[in-house]
Amino acid sequence: MKTRILILSLLSIISCGTGITTGQEIASSGAHNSDFLTSGNFYQKSGAITSSGYNGTDGIAFIQQDGLIGRDICIFYPADYDPKPHEPSFALLNEPVLTGKVPSDWALRPNFYVKNGKAIATLPIEEGTALYGTGENTGPLLRNGKKIMLWNTDNYKYLVDSGNRLYQSHPWVFGVRSDGTAFGIIGDNTWRQEIELTDSIRFISDGPAFRVIVIQKNSPQEVVMELANLTGKMELPPLWALGFQQSRYSYVPDTRILGIADTMRMKKLPCDVIWMDIDYMEKFKVFTFDKKMIPDPKAVNQGLHSRGFKSVWMIDPGVKVEKGYSVYDSGSQGDHWVLTAELKEFNGKVWPGPCAFPDFTRPETQSWWSGLYRDFMATGIDGVWNDMNEPSVFDGPGGTMPADNVHRGGGVLQPDIHLRYHNIYGMLMVKASREGIMKVNPDKRPFILSRSGYLGSSRYAATWTGDNCGLVEHMKMSIPMSLNLGLSGQPFNGPDMGGFALGTSSELYGQWIAFGTFFPFMRAHAEKGTNNKEPWAFGLEIEEVSRTALNRRYRLMPYLYTLFYEASKTGLPVMRPLFFADPTDSALKKEDQLFLLGNDLLIIPKWAVNPALPKGIWRTVSIAGENSLTDKYQADVRIKGGAIIPLGKLIQSTSEYSTDSLTLLICPDQQGKAVGQLYEDAGDGYGYQQGEYLLSSFSAEQQGTVVKVRIKSLEGSLRHADRKYKIILVHKNGAVESDWASGKNMKFNLPAN
Ligand code: NOJ
Repeated sequence: MKTRILILSLLSIISCGTGITTGQEIASSGAHNSDFLTSGNFYQKSGAITSSGYNGTDGIAFIQQDGLIGRDICIFYPADYDPKPHEPSFALLNEPVLTGKVPSDWALRPNFYVKNGKAIATLPIEEGTALYGTGENTGPLLRNGKKIMLWNTDNYKYLVDSGNRLYQSHPWVFGVRSDGTAFGIIGDNTWRQEIELTDSIRFISDGPAFRVIVIQKNSPQEVVMELANLTGKMELPPLWALGFQQSRYSYVPDTRILGIADTMRMKKLPCDVIWMDIDYMEKFKVFTFDKKMIPDPKAVNQGLHSRGFKSVWMIDPGVKVEKGYSVYDSGSQGDHWVLTAELKEFNGKVWPGPCAFPDFTRPETQSWWSGLYRDFMATGIDGVWNDMNEPSVFDGPGGTMPADNVHRGGGVLQPDIHLRYHNIYGMLMVKASREGIMKVNPDKRPFILSRSGYLGSSRYAATWTGDNCGLVEHMKMSIPMSLNLGLSGQPFNGPDMGGFALGTSSELYGQWIAFGTFFPFMRAHAEKGTNNKEPWAFGLEIEEVSRTALNRRYRLMPYLYTLFYEASKTGLPVMRPLFFADPTDSALKKEDQLFLLGNDLLIIPKWAVNPALPKGIWRTVSIAGENSLTDKYQADVRIKGGAIIPLGKLIQSTSEYSTDSLTLLICPDQQGKAVGQLYEDAGDGYGYQQGEYLLSSFSAEQQGTVVKVRIKSLEGSLRHADRKYKIILVHKNGAVESDWASGKNMKFNLPAN
């Protein structure tokens, strides 16, 4: 142990991290007692670190320094805070700058203390406060009473630790008080830790004392937006990534891949993407293709493109230890591997057998990894799936690498043990992947799906909730899981629709796709050895259920894309909890059978029992000809009074997407008025950043059977010469449809209802 501390100390001294610089900035603005800057670094304090982390002395620590870092945002540093094992932050986009004192009436302050050698920050829970957040978790939406371990874990079927730790870590607790005001707390700490939401809010860390950031706002929406300001926002994804995606472990050989695509088209099941899992690789070696299964990867991608599909291919972090395999050879030559405590190359088993793991804390390793995507993407691949990046190590302790493995850091990152870098291993991996992909395709928007993640990961990748099962319980839980991810700064997420592990029955699939079609990320995936889980595999009735569900998603594409645009601008989730409709309504706080899509659509799955509903006007609508009130599967979709939802045409993939004609679903409020918005651009590329987009607003006013609609261009240079509109007026007794019209100020005469 002593030798390792010494080695880390030396590595630490050699590396000139900006942890010191940022610390100095804070110190010079009065944030810290500057002792830690002069009295030697963390690693030089002998015994400061053990293989289980922090070795502090038990007792209560006073707050060393605190202050405002933004409107309604305060930061608190414990007495023994040392920036070196924490900074630069992985969650925060920018190092916080103190702008003033904590207001005297500030309600939420942490208490810092050490117990049993663990650094703890605790904050009180006011009576009647509903707690959410904590990222990806099993269980209900409401997190009160939960204990969650933040230690990214490959959790097949959610069986490990009863699902209380999954693939991602979000040291973030989000609270809504009974009066509707809200707060959020970031424990700015990557080290292994637990969050307890029992008698108080407690962050219990295995690492050194950490700082805490508290946001307090008048509404939950404002807190989520502030979280996004602090941790960064998802960039606008390519439009195709919003389409339906079909996956299986694994679609091989090449003829099967194209066959799936052909069947989708033949059966008129709208779909945008086919996914390639590990069996496309030669002996599971990343950045290779199995010559028998995929003799010509370029031809597969071209084949998909010519059918109006995109392709996503998997890349894992584990690199097979095999001399003569170019990725292993170049990784070894560049000294890119994570090391053991004895500073030897660490090897652990994953799919290909013994693997070495890139040390993504090294800048050189980041660029080497990015470079590997050059030839790979040149085969015409559209998106990348980074899996197993917790990292999962089959023969490692707890299914990962040893906590005392060594990451060497460099640039702004300090050298340190795995205990510190484990939770951001996947985040660093997708950062490097993203850079590589963007270099090869500078004119396309990157799409990466990552299994592992950390608070702020949405800057680099979308995510899914890992290896769930074909169980009713997992189907139902997919809603609170996705909602809490959205409330934790990750708007682009969804489950393996239909269930990954275990067989999926027709009934379950039908129920799942009927509401799963409204998730931000909609991908059906299935484990090897399970039944076929494509929409046509469950018989004709469920094929028809799937077709209707998918048609509903694709017709809603103009609205969905506008919500993604909003998420990229503001950080507001695409899929929202019901209490967003009225944060003061206590009945909505724990409702997690239903969800809101944006502000204006309410999704009620058929299986929901006695759901709490938001007050006000919410009317059932038909989107693709369905009647959800009589249908056994299709979710009841309700539009909010006062809303206008733009619908597009029925299409088979977003390659056919156009906004030349739009149907406006209009649901007037009590005053007969309604408003809505539409965002549009090329659907890919970066023209939109140069103004090549159009944000329009719609407003409508109903007087009897006459509805006047006004269209305004709010932002952007795109124009539509002569767009056609029709309206569907949704009223108490149903809906009436108009003829097509065009113009900026339109008057629709509707038949009397
Ligand atoms: C684990 C992933 O969670 C799953 O989706 C994938 O199919 C398998 N790895 C095989 O690559």
